[in-house]
Order: sequence, then C-alpha cells, then structure tokens
Amino acid sequence: KRIAVFVSGGGSNYKAIQAAIDAGKVNGEVVAVISDKPGCKATEFASEKGVHVSAYPKSAKFAPEGLSAEDLVQLLREKKVDIVLLAGFLKLLPAELVKAFPQAILNIHPALLPAFGGKGFYGLRVHSAVIKSGAWFSGPTVHFIDENYDAGVIVAQRIVRVLPTDTPEELQARVLKEEHYLYPIVVSALCDGRIRWRDDGVPILEDYM
Ligand code: GRF
Repeated sequence: KRIAVFVSGGGSNYKAIQAAIDAGKVNGEVVAVISDKPGCKATEFASEKGVHVSAYPKSAKFAPEGLSAEDLVQLLREKKVDIVLLAGFLKLLPAELVKAFPQAILNIHPALLPAFGGKGFYGLRVHSAVIKSGAWFSGPTVHFIDENYDAGVIVAQRIVRVLPTDTPEELQARVLKEEHYLYPIVVSALCDGRIRWRDDGVPILEDYM
C-alpha cells in the first residue's frame, strides 16, 4: 500500500514504521510526508530517505495563499496514497481529507484513550496529567481518526505501568518504546487488509488480541 505520513516533530514513530518496511514487516511504501513544521527532525529524515515533503497549510482555516484542503486531498490522490498515518502530527485534519480516506487514516496517541486525549493533550502534558491522576496504567493507543482530536474508534493499545516515582519524561520514554512496537503492527494489518470491521463499527485486529 502507498502511505502518506503527517508529522510535526521528532519523527520516531515514522522512523519505526520505515524500519518495519525496510525489514519487510510492513507491506507498504511511504510515498509522501506532510509537515506543518518544515525543518523538523521528521522532515529531515524524509528528505534523507528521498521522500517528497509537502508543507501543511499554515492557517488552520486553510488560507487561500496556502495549500487548501482540496489541494491536500488532490496531492494525496496524485501520489495514489491508500493510507494516511498521523505520527506526532499536532493539527486537526480538514473534514474533506477525513472523508476522502474512510477507514484509512490512523493516529497514535501516547495514553490510553478515551482518557487523557483531546485538544491540549500532547507531548509531556499527557504524561504529566496521567501521573497527576494517580492512574496505574498508561500506554499507547492507535485509533482511526474522525474530525475531532484523539477521537475515532480504537484499533489497539498497550499497557505501561505508571510508577509512583515516574517523571513525565520517564513515563514518556517507556510509552514511546511501546508506540514503536505497536504502530507498525497495526499499519501492517491495515496494509494487508487484516482489520475486520465489527457490525457496530469497531475495528478488530484479527491476529493481535
Ligand atoms: C508520540 O508520543 C505520539 O504518540 C504523539 O506524538 C508523539 C510523536 O513522537 N502523537 P514522534 O514524532 O513520533 O517521535
């Protein structure tokens, strides 16, 4: 399958997916990277790999001088993209784009949704909130996206114990490790059509329970 990755920062999840592709564990190819932060580590990695990087529209409202939502959809169509992966991408996707790729856009979030998600829950803030709550468990969630932040049906999660002594940085590092394990597994299943849709619209990973 042909994959587009949306990034804003470190790009470690993008790298984990690329590594899984290189190792033959994911039947896909990253054909486009879209970034709202040109020059970030993730876009540098894309350039090193020879993948074309496009700048995401600056204005949340898709200002006429920038790439419009339609342009963005057009770009993905031209590149014959099948699957869109958000990997540390901090902006909301326009509704047009979400509609254009039904059951084909995934996001990874560093906490157990539906808790600790939504606007404002990103980066270390997520882990601080988890620690502050006293929750014993955290871990990454991979979910299909809809038009809201961190919403949309959950495909897979992993559990990380929150230790009483954890700093947000320590918890973040342990969760991130599990993200790098989990995201390629789900992407592989999506590429191979191994995700089954239950009647109520919940996706089931056939071989990862
Ligand atoms: C990850 O924690 C991911 O769950 C969240 O943003 C972070 C991105 O990290 N959505 P990276 O850019 O993949 O290193």
